[in-house]
Amino acid sequence: MSNLDLFSAMPEPTPALDGGQARYAQLLQTLAHHAHLYYVQDAPQLPDAEYDKLYRELEAIEEQHPDWVRPDSPTQRVLGAVLSGFTPVRHAVPMLSIKTETDTEASGARHFDARMRRELELDLAAPLVEYMAEPKFDGLAMSLRYENGVLVQAATRGDGETGEDVSANIQTIRQIPLKLFSHPPLGEEKKDSPPPLGEGQGGGLNSAAPLPIPKILEVRGEVYMARADFEALNERQRQRIAAGEKNEKTFVNPRNAAAGAVRQLDSRIAAQRPLSFYAYGLGEFVAADGRSEVETFATQYGLLQAIKAWGLPVSNIAQVVQGANGLVAFHAQVAQQRDGLPFDIDGVVYKLNSLALQQRLGFVSREPRWAVAHKYPAQEMLTTVQAIDVQVGRTGKLTPVAKLAPVFVGGVTVTNATLHNEDEARRKDVRVGDTVIVRRAGDVIPEVVSVLLEKRPAETQIFTIPTHCPVCGSAAEREADEADTRCTGGLSCAAQLQGAISHFASRRAMDVEGLGDKLVEQLVSLGLVQALPDIYRLDLSTLAGLERMAEKSAQNLLDALEKSKTTTLARFIYSLGIRHVGETTAKDLAKHFGNLDALQAADEAALLQVSDVGPVVAASVQHFFADAKHRTVLQALLAAGITWPAVAAASQTAQTQAGKTWVITGTLPSLSRDAAKAMIEAAGGKVAGSVSKKTDFVLAGSDAGSKLAKAQELGVTVVDEAQCLAMLTSARVPVAV
Ligand code: IVH
Repeated sequence: MSNLDLFSAMPEPTPALDGGQARYAQLLQTLAHHAHLYYVQDAPQLPDAEYDKLYRELEAIEEQHPDWVRPDSPTQRVLGAVLSGFTPVRHAVPMLSIKTETDTEASGARHFDARMRRELELDLAAPLVEYMAEPKFDGLAMSLRYENGVLVQAATRGDGETGEDVSANIQTIRQIPLKLFSHPPLGEEKKDSPPPLGEGQGGGLNSAAPLPIPKILEVRGEVYMARADFEALNERQRQRIAAGEKNEKTFVNPRNAAAGAVRQLDSRIAAQRPLSFYAYGLGEFVAADGRSEVETFATQYGLLQAIKAWGLPVSNIAQVVQGANGLVAFHAQVAQQRDGLPFDIDGVVYKLNSLALQQRLGFVSREPRWAVAHKYPAQEMLTTVQAIDVQVGRTGKLTPVAKLAPVFVGGVTVTNATLHNEDEARRKDVRVGDTVIVRRAGDVIPEVVSVLLEKRPAETQIFTIPTHCPVCGSAAEREADEADTRCTGGLSCAAQLQGAISHFASRRAMDVEGLGDKLVEQLVSLGLVQALPDIYRLDLSTLAGLERMAEKSAQNLLDALEKSKTTTLARFIYSLGIRHVGETTAKDLAKHFGNLDALQAADEAALLQVSDVGPVVAASVQHFFADAKHRTVLQALLAAGITWPAVAAASQTAQTQAGKTWVITGTLPSLSRDAAKAMIEAAGGKVAGSVSKKTDFVLAGSDAGSKLAKAQELGVTVVDEAQCLAMLTSARVPVAV
């Protein structure tokens, strides 16, 4: 039986149906209507159980009357036909491709508009050209042929002239109606009804009126697999492979999976590979009254609305836009949406909206002159793994990182991709020498999506996480229930030390300006810094002697180090890099305990009193201070001169600056503005941006400008940094350091 036969036995509707047959016809209509609401509009109106009940009733009738079964019955979708090959199909109207604009920037859209204006011979004074702008779906082209409203054939593009009959597989796509709707389906939103169609030529569409079913309608569109369906399919495939099923494989991307499903000879397998469809144009068309497409529709938009009303899925991202600016805005808007879409797109497509103008421009070398594909940079590329390095982070975590042959993906050149941890690396089974798919979407860090097993060279080795730290050689351990493996070397490990120093010096911690990662790496590798407190022992001649360091920058760094010594308790706690203690927890701890001694002495019960501190944080804090090495580091840091104003512990009395408003202006001799603000706030004061009558004090440094003048004019007390510090700390016992 050829695929055509699947449809050709369509019985003529019987003029007077008996009760049973009338019920059968009604069931077909009801089920088709609800399937459309469910699969196309995503707006089901019938509970699944109700639908199933009607479906079973239909099945029962068909069982009793096999001769009644109609080809558009939903029971005919999953046929289980196994074909020996696909029948060639000659397309009535060739399936063309479109020119690609290679400039992926906005200028690519302007080129197209300029070309259209030139080819339409429009001068500068002529009005803007109207376009239909659509997503470029990343799937495969399909032609669906409806004769008198019934789907008779689905064909692939093939070489454009001749494709393959894949009807049996396409029938498994529930979004595709087996029979067209002559009434716009209920629940269709009115706002989607088409706008006036150009100059009124050739019949606008009135969404309320029934839409005549065309004699011949070839819908051209894209079959694709939604991202979530693709992920679920691959997960099932992985399980099959793990269960030892031969001949199973995972798919590289949704496009690939969709193409595989469409060309499946066994339609039962195709039915398990969930596909979707979007219509974007027409092939052969003969309206009910015999007219052509240009005589029936004025615009591309109008014809898409008709296709939608006949029950086929049309993307609601498609838009009518005006001129080059409209194209550019659409390109940018869809680029923004791209990562969040439920399906892959690889660009956008621009088409002249007027069908008359399309006809005027016609075709050149099998491509329409009136359309262009404007691509986005690819988000996935192939490359090879040159090595798998293991990096050691601040907390000792070992991270496997794939070193890649440089590849341009998602708009940047990528050379590294994290494999996260041992389990992830094993799950993906990435090996040195492998060809891999690298993905970089939006601003997310690049990742290895999967390995092309068929390209794996003969001698490869499974990646294993090292048993010892690659930096310091200490044992690396993985705790039960943890995915991460950690170096046990603590701050004696150069990598952890480097990480600890960089964190300590970072802006929101001790804020040592100029002590960046590169410099820290240099200091640690040269042995100039062997422990955190050593940074406060660096001198001018040592620093000035370093690569890329002049005396001036060395002095600046020393000044920054000196300035950093005046801080707040919260910043100091945060800068220690205690696991699970971020900025907020550090603030909570500082506020609760008021001083370092109390925090160090706190037992678990005391720590659990702090707001938002749970057992994990409490254990981590205790563990940190219990370590003798850490206590030595703390003592040395405090001995280097790190100080902070006392904080009124939650239990202590009122703060010196409670209710006072300060304004800070000019450059302070030792404190950064952030530090001064934090100190004032720690003492209960507020810091405002501008001077007014409500200001209590202005803290002024050098080069103070208009704010100082305003303060003097209003008679607000102006103090310098030393006076300010004295005011903040005067009422309090200085913290023992
Ligand atoms: S229009 C005569 N519109 O991109 C114009 N094509 O070369 C025919 N595609 O493989 C194509 N989304 O399947 C058009 N919104 C869209 C599209 C689209 C994806 C595919 C099409 C073909 C290729 C164009």
